[in-house]
Amino acid sequence: MPAQRLDGKALAATMRSEIASRITERATAGKRPPGLAAVLVGEDPASQQYVKNKHKACQDAGLATAVHRLPVTTSQAELLELVAQLNADPAVHGILVQLPLPKQIDEGAVIRAVSPVKDVDCFHPENVGLLAAGHPRFYPCTPHGVLQLLRRNGTATAGKEVVVVGRSNIVGKPLALMLMQKPTATNPAAGDATVTVAHTRTRDLASVCRRADILIAAAGAPATITAEMVKPGAAVVDVGTNNVEGRWCGDVHEGVWAVAGWVSPVPGGVGPMTITMLLHNTFDAAKLIDG
Ligand code: GUN
Repeated sequence: MPAQRLDGKALAATMRSEIASRITERATAGKRPPGLAAVLVGEDPASQQYVKNKHKACQDAGLATAVHRLPVTTSQAELLELVAQLNADPAVHGILVQLPLPKQIDEGAVIRAVSPVKDVDCFHPENVGLLAAGHPRFYPCTPHGVLQLLRRNGTATAGKEVVVVGRSNIVGKPLALMLMQKPTATNPAAGDATVTVAHTRTRDLASVCRRADILIAAAGAPATITAEMVKPGAAVVDVGTNNVEGRWCGDVHEGVWAVAGWVSPVPGGVGPMTITMLLHNTFDAAKLIDG
């Protein structure tokens, strides 16, 4: 039997309507809508598409949202000036500076300039530290989306062998942290799993992957995970977003669908969940800032 779909599009729609209802409740109580400011520097086509999708999802759910588009020649000082304005703006609860940034700009300096209480990406070192210590202020959007996608489809992570392929700051590293932690009242998404992180220097990647009850593909290269690397019945979450000749594909080869128990499709898997968790964080930031 082919694998069942981990349908991120359907789950995202359900979760976004839950968020929209909570925004309506806040409006009834006289609270302003959660506000997200997205900053896009340059014209990278993938970044433009991501920001467009995030902006539309915010509008549809009733968030106040603005996109600040800056030219590719923007200096670091100009970008830091915009971030300072957004930090000071009471209508802005979340700030998202789309990465990557043009090479004249130091990404770390920009990440550190975003107010930690408005850092809905969870990229600021203060928020990364809180996450690593098991006391998260925000969860990073893609890792949180992956965990929700598993959990809300009935795939528990507690006690499971999970292999994460990829060690990026945006996905692999924070996801591994979240998966290994013990859940608590203030860290409810923690996975309680046994976690292995594999990467480009891992020896015999196939046998490492075959240990996994849950396999997370976040390597950033098409067909990194093939059928013989998957334990029969395993859940496989594809975090890849590779543009191959104008078509989006993930890191998982299509042959995996014949072996796995669950697979998340690309598109329609993790992507819509990442955006949903961004809305969730912006809502939480509004509660944090406005009460
Ligand atoms: N570039 C790729 N993924 C992301 C993300 O989740 N947030 C931001 N700000 N930039 C990205």
